Amino acid sequence: MKIEELDHSALVNATAIWSEADLTRPWNDPDEDFRRALKGENSAVLGAFVNGELAGTVMVGDDGHRGWMYYLAVARGHRGEGIGRALVKAGENWLRSCGAVKVQLMVRNTNEQVAGFYRRLGYEDAQTTVLARWLDEEA
Ligand SMILES: CC(C)(COP(=O)(O)OP(=O)(O)OC[C@H]1O[C@@H](n2cnc3c(N)ncnc32)[C@H](O)[C@@H]1OP(=O)(O)O)[C@@H](O)C(=O)NCCC(=O)NCCS
Repeated sequence: MKIEELDHSALVNATAIWSEADLTRPWNDPDEDFRRALKGENSAVLGAFVNGELAGTVMVGDDGHRGWMYYLAVARGHRGEGIGRALVKAGENWLRSCGAVKVQLMVRNTNEQVAGFYRRLGYEDAQTTVLARWLDEEA
């Protein structure tokens, strides 16, 4: 298995994995999310390849204070092979190289089954509520 930064040619396969993993939502355009991450200087999408085929992804971004991970997903046929763990490690290393000292991620309240995975990798509940508002409402 090989992990590398994705380019635009991986968009269709990456977003298909996100969709299969139930990470997409009607209010987030996955294609636009992918493109925006590749456009930013401090963000990227990393992909895990098995026999030349994309088997998993993680989006990473450094906001100047913390490193963030999004869209961690492994194709159903490749789960349980250590790819998720390897992607998180690669994401952490990518963020460390940006100067980030801490990494954070959000888990939807409806995604209870993933909590055990993150705990296994040393992640703890940050006891924080995330608040959000769309910025383009005023545009
Ligand atoms: C979560 C996900 C990325 C894990 O990927 P994976 O490749 O199957 O995980 P790994 O094989 O690397 O597992 C790493 C470790 O976590 C453990 N683990 C995996 N899923 C687990 C779970 N649901 N609960 C408890 N432990 C779990 C594994 O047993 C393994 O332990 P070990 O390495 O100490 O033996 C994958 O299940 C997935 O794509 N889920 C749907 C998308 C999703 O929910 N993403 C997270 C959004 S916040």
